[in-house]
Amino acid sequence: MRVLVTGGAGYIGSHTAVVLLQAGHEVVILDNFANAERDVPERIAAVAGRAAGLEEADVTDAAALARVFARFRPEGVIHFAGLKAVGEAAEVPLEYYRVNVAGSLTLMQAMAAAGCMRLVFSSSATVYGEPDAIPIPETHPLRPTNPYGWSKRMVEQIVEDWGRALPGLGAVTLRYFNPVGAHPSALIGEAPRGTPNNLMPFVAQVAAGLRPRVSVFGDDYDTPDGTGLRDYIHVMDLAEAHLAALDLAAAGPGVQALNVGTGRGCSVLEMIRAFETASGRAIAFGITARRPGDVAVSLADPALMRQRTGWAARRDLAAMCADAWRWQSRQS
Ligand code: NAD
Ligand code: UD1
Repeated sequence: MRVLVTGGAGYIGSHTAVVLLQAGHEVVILDNFANAERDVPERIAAVAGRAAGLEEADVTDAAALARVFARFRPEGVIHFAGLKAVGEAAEVPLEYYRVNVAGSLTLMQAMAAAGCMRLVFSSSATVYGEPDAIPIPETHPLRPTNPYGWSKRMVEQIVEDWGRALPGLGAVTLRYFNPVGAHPSALIGEAPRGTPNNLMPFVAQVAAGLRPRVSVFGDDYDTPDGTGLRDYIHVMDLAEAHLAALDLAAAGPGVQALNVGTGRGCSVLEMIRAFETASGRAIAFGITARRPGDVAVSLADPALMRQRTGWAARRDLAAMCADAWRWQSRQS
């Protein structure tokens, strides 16, 4: 298939581009490099053994999208391009709605004009907000607690409404839990700018000696060791989930939202210990106050994704830490 990958130079998009290329798809990456290094497309080619095309463009630019669709004539689109920092979204909500919501809308209009009817969209487990039940099924109410989560919820709604109006549309919105790790080649991975917001890249930087200690945000949650429990998923498993979702979107019309997680929980302290084992380094940490907005537990029910696509996560916490450490070691 000819597949347009928006945000394909980013963390999850770059790993997905590798998996698509290796599966034999023709890939064009569209990215404005707002949050990606310029050499990522070359690195993708080095890992995959073949190159993707590159269009440097903004997903909110309708004229640029029309040109890309006319040139490449994609049969399917995987849409990663967007802004993803929860804290920043609360400070500049209009920018988040412009890029994440208006950008997605502009892309869908370009798809409609070009007759392209296969879409996979990056949503997030953050659309569920504070969970009523664990593990979280797709039928759980959607009640995000911040503008980033709302931007994802709004796009899910737009895709659903588009599907109702256009019965031929095949669309899958994937609700990712906590993506971590890197490609085992260590040629691509997550390169956060400034202080990492998320646990795994922070732990990796402490192991590398770049930061003194991990602040553990609360040890008085209702969890086995009192620290937050999350469903971490290896980014290569997540990339393979996109291949499966693209096949599902191509198999027939319909709009579906699917969780992408392992269904297994890992606490902050377990993550620190597993990273110590993977890196062979001691990782200093201290307990601090809870981070506002955090939930105690977030775990996917991954059954529906497995049932619809046959996909299931294969890589364990040890592999997530080992691959993240190999990547971190190449950075510092
Ligand atoms: P990322 O920032 O590494 O990748 C996003 C890519 O989109 C970057 O390469 C960036 O340069 C590009 N981009 C940003 N704005 C753009 C624009 N206006 N036009 C064109 N390109 C633009 O993020 P990621 O972690 O790879 O996330 C990919 C998607 O998955 C995002 O939509 C994100 O919200 C979603 N998501 C991520 C996580 C996570 O923890 N990483 C979890 C759930 C959902
Ligand atoms: C974050 C996002 C969420 C997004 C998810 C997936 C926030 C507030 N939420 O959630 O919207 O969908 O990533 O990428 O950013 N922790 C520490 N110390 C740290 C960092 C984190 O103890 O320095 C703890 C957190 O309290 C949490 C766990 O580690 O219990 C994981 O945190 P993080 O990696 O930020 O992911 P989420 O909180 O799940």
